[in-house]
Amino acid sequence: MLLHRYWGKNLHNYYGANCVQPVKRTFAAPYNQQNPLFSLEIESQEFSFPHQGDYREPSVSVRQQNGCTIGRMKYQYYEITDTLHIPEGLPHIRETEQKTAKTLAIHFLDTISNVKLILYYSIVEDSAVIIRSAQICNQGSQPVWVERAMSALVDTTYQKQQLITFYGTHQKEFQLNRQDIKHGIFSVGSTRGASSPQYPPFAAICTPETTEHSGEVHAFQLIYSGNHCVSVERNQYNHLRIAMGIHTEDFCWKLLPNETFQTPQAILIYSNEGLNGMSQEFHKLYIERLFSPQWAKKKRPILLNSWEMCYFDVSEQRMLNVIQQAAKLGFELVVLDDGWFGHRNNSKSSLGDWTVNAEKFPNGLTPLLKCAEENGIQFGIWFEPEMISPDSVLMETHTDWHMQINDYTPLLGRNQLVLDLTQQKVQNYIIETLSDFIKKYPVSYIKWDMNRHMTDPNSLYLSEDSKEEFFHRYMLGLYRILQELTMQFPDILFENCSSGGGRFDAGMSFYMPQTWCSDNTDALDRQIIQYGASYVFPPSAITAHVSAAPNHQTGRNIPFATRAAVASSANMGYELNILELSSEEKEQIITHLSEYKQKRELLFYGEFYRLCSPFTDNNCAWMIINQEKTYAIIYYFIREYAVSALSYILKIPYVDYQKVYVEKNTGRSFTGEELIYVGISISTLKGDFPVIVLEFNEKK
Ligand code: DGJ
Repeated sequence: MLLHRYWGKNLHNYYGANCVQPVKRTFAAPYNQQNPLFSLEIESQEFSFPHQGDYREPSVSVRQQNGCTIGRMKYQYYEITDTLHIPEGLPHIRETEQKTAKTLAIHFLDTISNVKLILYYSIVEDSAVIIRSAQICNQGSQPVWVERAMSALVDTTYQKQQLITFYGTHQKEFQLNRQDIKHGIFSVGSTRGASSPQYPPFAAICTPETTEHSGEVHAFQLIYSGNHCVSVERNQYNHLRIAMGIHTEDFCWKLLPNETFQTPQAILIYSNEGLNGMSQEFHKLYIERLFSPQWAKKKRPILLNSWEMCYFDVSEQRMLNVIQQAAKLGFELVVLDDGWFGHRNNSKSSLGDWTVNAEKFPNGLTPLLKCAEENGIQFGIWFEPEMISPDSVLMETHTDWHMQINDYTPLLGRNQLVLDLTQQKVQNYIIETLSDFIKKYPVSYIKWDMNRHMTDPNSLYLSEDSKEEFFHRYMLGLYRILQELTMQFPDILFENCSSGGGRFDAGMSFYMPQTWCSDNTDALDRQIIQYGASYVFPPSAITAHVSAAPNHQTGRNIPFATRAAVASSANMGYELNILELSSEEKEQIITHLSEYKQKRELLFYGEFYRLCSPFTDNNCAWMIINQEKTYAIIYYFIREYAVSALSYILKIPYVDYQKVYVEKNTGRSFTGEELIYVGISISTLKGDFPVIVLEFNEKK
């Protein structure tokens, strides 16, 4: 059997100091009679099969043709290779030119059913990451059904642990949830056909003492965009089991002889430098090895999106004006959002008919592309390729192309249905339609939206005993489409969106290096959302727009400086009506854009650290510092003015303690040591939602 001994700080040697003491425990089934004290129930394992004495949740369960899910998986051998294991058809951590990764593959076999299991563990140099996945191969002569296939399972004997997960909804993504782990099983996940803002695929285990700046964290994220779950079980011995993988609900995969099922990869990160330490590991890993190398480190254009400016009311003349004005203000890309195709004037029609609306754009989109070029800026466009409106030509011609369960009328979400991406011809339709469009209109950017979750999870073409493969097959279909399109058009910047952050996960990020992180553009709410998202994603992956005041979602009037600071802390853009600006507003935007361009190097490539949490404090603060630690910006947001409060002392643990820094606005000098250990006092500004910006440069 393969047992788990330790996962934590790098060790040079291990001699079994923490082995479980053999003690007789009633009800613990011995694994074999030669060693009656050895029971899987009390051991920490790397994977677990049902019905062999370990009564915690199994990580793998395979039903044989006789109906039983029993199996006796035994270790066979291992291999170590100097490459990463790449799961076919799934997004993954990439190999780099330096080839500094290694993979351990451990092979197991159940000699009765001839089902084989391979566990993959990849590590990459200079990174505290383990990339895990599993493969189940049917080497028998009968079909088997994989009913559960977790990507990773970790057993620990640590006792005082807390769990961090996210919860959320539309316009309220990435809300942090930190709780003690009690006895029993706690699980979060999604059965919505998308990773979801409700419970995205992330979990971290930490001690109650762990803060942003110190303490141990063991974090998990799945590189997957569909149904998933993470469960944490505390058993009667206080041992913890954490498992992460595809959700077991509505999942069953038939494996014919010689077929293999590959799970998505799970990323496991260890940090003993608090939650910021964990985030740094995620950020580094994603920039170096998840995002497309073409885009990962490429400066992104400052975009202006038409949505909150025009909604569906777009037209040639309006967009021409927008492009000209945008160029004057300093924007680098104009994006034509929803409403440009079919006969779409609201959300009730035309998804699937990706031809330009002739009433709104009588000359097609060429005049817009030309105008953008003449004005020295780029042009981009919105699509929602996975959807179909009942009121569309596509629906008239292909009534069998959407998800549906035979005689049942499928449920609408935002007036639309979801295309059945398990069908190859539907995948091809999307690939060809978008390719043709791009060839005709060479746009620089595409926003890929997905505005509903799934119901009626069925394809008319899946056989009866493969119905529960639907959700995963959908994801494989989607990944194929994204792979083809991003390979065919590597220079196009793709932005992921699902009514904001409805499918903001590492799977989508493999294909699209940036994600519209929320439809909520209110800078106060965004502080929370972006704070949460930064646990896993670097600023370059999180798009944030300066929008109008009063804000369209909340009605709040947030000062321009705060709106600009929140957006500038991520991948910055705008979406507000630039055709109706006062001269003061115009000036504000011009100044902001030109200042942003000067600081972009730092804001885009710098390291992002959270300093003060809006989840536990009245205020919110973060900093971005360059790798040399010579230049840093801190945004300190006052969320609620506290009457008669003393000024707040902010410690800044991430500067260089040996350097001396000058704060730009006050001209005052401080040693790094002082900023780290003593902290700097922040005056409590009055008024609604102000921001304090501190800019530190190393004193020359
Ligand atoms: C949802 C997106 O999040 C918005 O930004 C916008 O693109 C709308 N969809 C358009 O329908």
